[in-house]
Amino acid sequence: HPHSRPRHPRTRTMVPLLLLLLATAHGLEKIQYKPELAVSNLEGRTTASTFVLEQPRCIFKNYSDTEIWLVVAIPSAIPDFNNSLAPGSPERAFQKFPESAHAYMTLGTTFMNYPCNRTPGEITVLRVGSETSCAKDMSRPTCNGPLPGPGPYQVKFLAFNSLTVPLAETEWSEPITLRTGSAAGTLMKSRHSAGMIALTSILSILLAILLAILVAMLVSCGSDTCGSSGTFSKPDMVSVQRYNTHHVYDQPAAQL
Ligand SMILES: *[C@@H]1O[C@H](CO)[C@@H](O)[C@H](O)[C@H]1NC(C)=O
Ligand SMILES: *[C@@H]1O[C@H](CO)[C@@H](O)[C@H](O)[C@H]1NC(C)=O
Repeated sequence: HPHSRPRHPRTRTMVPLLLLLLATAHGLEKIQYKPELAVSNLEGRTTASTFVLEQPRCIFKNYSDTEIWLVVAIPSAIPDFNNSLAPGSPERAFQKFPESAHAYMTLGTTFMNYPCNRTPGEITVLRVGSETSCAKDMSRPTCNGPLPGPGPYQVKFLAFNSLTVPLAETEWSEPITLRTGSAAGTLMKSRHSAGMIALTSILSILLAILLAILVAMLVSCGSDTCGSSGTFSKPDMVSVQRYNTHHVYDQPAAQL
């Protein structure tokens, strides 16, 4: 058929588009799973800029061909959250979080890394905020950089297919607040002591200057320089003294 031949390239380009439309029409599946902070009693489950989550093991078993991303958002971004924004897009860049990007996506990985069967001794947690090297690197918008403040933050996992169409999502976690108490305390303490150190050093410098001036005055007065500077007063005093002594001793002599 001459008619069917030109149709082939067209259908080839139509297939991904159709798949995309189908996926969007089908919508996102909501998986009944809420991401949680690591249950093991790890030291530093939350720090001032990181927190540790349980891996979403086995959660995406019906989506084994997808790429699973962690979404970190500020709570105000959740009501009208746009799941269609792809990981690495400017609106989801770590470097712009939380000012112009109200959420970022990081730790993208395949289902293979979140398998159902657990081998003993295996790490089954994720540390969010552990990558400092890319925190300011705009070319790495999916950086797992240190969190910019105490939060609170809410997280979920979102699975995208190869066309970066979201297929499945978990629920949002409870708000996660990072540690501030001790960190702020030590900061204030160190600021306080820094101020004290500055004040003490200024005072001691002032005292040293005063002492130096005093010493300089004493030294210069003991040497000839003080004498030369006092040329106007010393001879006068001497002459007055001489005059006085002369006068005082002269008069009784004259009277006698
Ligand atoms: C996975 O898919 C199977 C069949 O397609 C279904 O019975 C099951 O409920 C699904 N599991 C989840 C967690 O969605
Ligand atoms: C969500 O993001 C996609 C991709 O950028 C965009 O096409 C769509 O309009 C956005 N939806 C809303 C409701 O903002």
